[in-house]
Amino acid sequence: MSDHAAAQKYAASEEFVAHAHVKPAEYAAQYAASVADPNAFWAKEGQRIDWIKDFTRVKETSFERGAVSIKWFEDGTLNVSANCIDRHMTRRANQTAIIWEPDDPKTPAQHITYAQLLENTSRMANVLKAQGVSRGDRVVIYLPMIPEAAYAMLACARIGAIHSIVFAGFSPDALANRINDSEAKVLITADFAPRGGKKTALKNNADQALRHCDDRVKCLVVKHTGDQTHWTEGRDIDLKAEMAAAKPYCAYVEMGAEDPLFILYTSGSTGKPKGVVHTSGGYLVYAAMTQQITFDYHDGDVFWCTADVGWVTGHSYIIYGPLANGATTVMFEGVPTFPDAGRFWEVCAKHKVNQFYTAPTAIRSLMGMGPEWPAKHDLSSLKLLGSVGEPINPEAWNWYNQHVGKGRCPIVDTFWQTETGGHLITPIPGAIPQKPGSATLPFFGIQPIVLDPATAKVQDAVETDGVLCIADSWPGQMRTLWGDHARFEEAYFSQYPGYYFTGDGCRRDADGYYWITGRVDDVINVSGHRMGTAEVESALVAHPKVAESAVVGYPHDIKGQGIYAYVTLMKGEEPSEALRKELEAWVRTEIGPIAKPDLIQWAPGLPKTRSGKIMRRILRKIAENDFGALGDTSTLADPSVVDDLIANRMNKG
Ligand code: WT7
Repeated sequence: MSDHAAAQKYAASEEFVAHAHVKPAEYAAQYAASVADPNAFWAKEGQRIDWIKDFTRVKETSFERGAVSIKWFEDGTLNVSANCIDRHMTRRANQTAIIWEPDDPKTPAQHITYAQLLENTSRMANVLKAQGVSRGDRVVIYLPMIPEAAYAMLACARIGAIHSIVFAGFSPDALANRINDSEAKVLITADFAPRGGKKTALKNNADQALRHCDDRVKCLVVKHTGDQTHWTEGRDIDLKAEMAAAKPYCAYVEMGAEDPLFILYTSGSTGKPKGVVHTSGGYLVYAAMTQQITFDYHDGDVFWCTADVGWVTGHSYIIYGPLANGATTVMFEGVPTFPDAGRFWEVCAKHKVNQFYTAPTAIRSLMGMGPEWPAKHDLSSLKLLGSVGEPINPEAWNWYNQHVGKGRCPIVDTFWQTETGGHLITPIPGAIPQKPGSATLPFFGIQPIVLDPATAKVQDAVETDGVLCIADSWPGQMRTLWGDHARFEEAYFSQYPGYYFTGDGCRRDADGYYWITGRVDDVINVSGHRMGTAEVESALVAHPKVAESAVVGYPHDIKGQGIYAYVTLMKGEEPSEALRKELEAWVRTEIGPIAKPDLIQWAPGLPKTRSGKIMRRILRKIAENDFGALGDTSTLADPSVVDDLIANRMNKG
């Protein structure tokens, strides 16, 4: 632990500090004020956005078990789309709102002004209305990273519909489950999704998914690549054609602060994905504030978050935060390594990006390609770099700092979650010196506490470790799980009563800096994507030849964690390479390519207690190649299975 306190600290340059929103001397006092009187603090911050009817109430929240209730600015009314578009029309109508950078660099980028954003969003809103979508209805969005994804989100917000984006890498089954769970009226998709020079047949996936959904679900299709797709008359609608024919303006509706804005499904420790619900007022205040403060965003800056809108990072930091602040936000359809490993840096140079926000897994894979790639491009516009999704290892941090930021750009390592709407723990650039690998200190209004996992006692010492909880609410916090408030309480407020439980472990060093050590539940983090081990297990056991399966994470150089699956076959089935490939393909179809196991080990038996509980601790250790630390195996029903698993541990990766 003392290593952490002693780790080198990187302070921002004087030049950066001179322009920073928060000065070094200001953080401590502002933070103290934010937690001492949250009502006063957030009443002021609430004015960052435009309200139709101003709020008089600010914070009404309770983490009390059995009565968890989270409301912010409850009597205020607003429209999120109007905040992201209309309110900028007087000053920024001709400013670029979105720079769209296509997958293929030979296709020209699009610069969409705020005036065009208003028109396109309005047209799409009118198409949705014509399909009978109104306030409170759910719309599932399954799109590539194209401008229509932004229009669709903002069109829903404009008419009060609730969007639920499903990442285009998810399978038809995963899509169908989300359409059904949210009882969506409309699905918005595209013909194909080009990525890295390859095309995913999105419409074909949508067709398969819709077979398992209510017949009344309409399918709005963006003809993006123009390739032929199957067409179901009466159900499928050519969205671009309808938009062209629709009225160019749509009035926005007055929504309550606590009306849901979106549902976003994420993995939990049980098999069924959780529909995280975010509402309108508090979420927007928090997304806008963190986008401005954490990235030290200033008027006129070009901001690029490389995430996909299918994840919360894309919601908060491609769309809602930047657009609420009147920014120019980059939306990138491609991947970091297409057509070559210089693509990110080429795009930074081309669009003169000022803040660049990506994931450690991308940095690690680009680091492996060598520093000559960033060196080829003019990166002098960059002022700040960001990281999100998993802890960033110091080696990657140093490479990012040296070869991309050229030692001049603060790096914000932002810790947060789908559930939190925006950053929880992050350096405030200019004010908080960074230590590579640490998310540093809490954002304004966030009260992290560290608990002993066994006794649930609050660890008061500055230098400590344990599980990470948050003591009180903030405006960006999720409000419930769609249709299942009981599960919401159970998942986040029951294990450590009175606190929001993040599911992460952490250390706090002598400087009070937080170092996130990873999930303490059965959730793994693969390339910054969250995956429930139970989800992969249930996909595997759904295969007719699989009797049983246990899935754990193991350290992976590029992905952070890889997926390690132990598989027990049905009696009479023989392991083979062909079957291994078949199971990999099976999981891809059941969930999506991101869930494909990296390693599959054939397990004649799994280590179980006498009561039949699988001892995952042991499986994790074997997957980690850490046989010395297996701990007590005496309670196992059959200790010999462990020897077999060790002897046959997969050695790739
Ligand atoms: C989990 C949340 C929120 C955006 C992307 C992921 C891990 C996220 C960091 C970070 C260490 C991090 C945590 C967290 N995580 N950012 N900077 N340092 N760990 O969202 O899919 O909801 O996953 O990602 O384990 O709980 P998500």
